[in-house]
Amino acid sequence: MENEILQQIDIHQIQQSRKDSVDWDNLPFGRVFSDHMLVIDYVDGAWGKPVIEPFENLSLSPATSVLHYGQTVFEGMKAYRNDNDEVFLFRADQNAKRFNQSAIRMCMPTIPEDVFVQFVQTLVDLDREWIPTNEGYSMYIRPFMIATDPYVGIRPSATYKFMIFTCPVGAYYTEPVRVKIETKYTRAAHGGTGFAKAGGNYAASLYPAKLAAEQGYQQLIWTDAQEHKYVEEAGTMNVVFQIGDTIVTPKSSDTILDGITRKSVMEIARDWGYKTEERKISVKEVIDAIESGELKDAFGAGTAATIAPIKTINFEGRDYELPEVAERKFSNEVLDYLNRYKHGETEDKFNWLIKF
Ligand code: COI
Repeated sequence: MENEILQQIDIHQIQQSRKDSVDWDNLPFGRVFSDHMLVIDYVDGAWGKPVIEPFENLSLSPATSVLHYGQTVFEGMKAYRNDNDEVFLFRADQNAKRFNQSAIRMCMPTIPEDVFVQFVQTLVDLDREWIPTNEGYSMYIRPFMIATDPYVGIRPSATYKFMIFTCPVGAYYTEPVRVKIETKYTRAAHGGTGFAKAGGNYAASLYPAKLAAEQGYQQLIWTDAQEHKYVEEAGTMNVVFQIGDTIVTPKSSDTILDGITRKSVMEIARDWGYKTEERKISVKEVIDAIESGELKDAFGAGTAATIAPIKTINFEGRDYELPEVAERKFSNEVLDYLNRYKHGETEDKFNWLIKF
């Protein structure tokens, strides 16, 4: 099976690039798509031939099982280009690994990690001129897999489609976020799919997020399903705090996505000599730390948003204002360092980059 999947990618290049029609100085997040996409089908227990072709719509039977039962997983990763036209992928091996962990949980086939990375690299290289170089811009990469059996019964699909497309993107959040601690709805429970990048996790978050948005909060801070006492994630991101001199984040578990930005931030913090903790964090601890002035920093960490400073936390109807974003040391320094790191402007001391 692996031999087949590793066979050379068939590349059908676009006749005329759409690049010139893009407003490169005003890129929204996730609405502009590069010229090409990669597609590979899984049939009869094996991956077929990978193809790169012009980005286009799919044609699917209305009975396609992913449309009904949500058997789908995805990844989010980014490519960066510097002024010397060098392109970088950041910790792509971690995305490959997590993709397979998600796939296993959703009863879907896996892809060898090196093949996954090779697919991403080949597609990004072909569309490398689509990677914006303006500050804060990058190319967002969306690998995903869907169940494609045209069958309305419920069972794991026998066929799948794995695809990758890419989007040149600007900032996900343009402003520091106001978040609400959610104590009624639940994102993930033990034994569920919270650790996986499964489409349904995101669908289930929309309604509580909409209620919070109506009250003026851009994200939720999810709490544990049993007691709603412990902080889990910040919307579609992991959450990191600085309490006193310690950088602290909820420990990864089966209810929390093992975020690559979060993991990197914690490694950098350790390298810089901060005390770091990955453990349970109660809502009470966070609120007490705000009230005592010990909470120095709070931000969401994710691929799309990178570091999203949290400005306000709402809990039980009360808004708690956090320290001025411009005056925060850790999150500003780590964001700057990550940006330079991902553009090859610092030493690759953690061996996180693939350059091409
Ligand atoms: C990412 O940060 O890559 C995510 O998956 C968030 C997404 C919902 C845009």
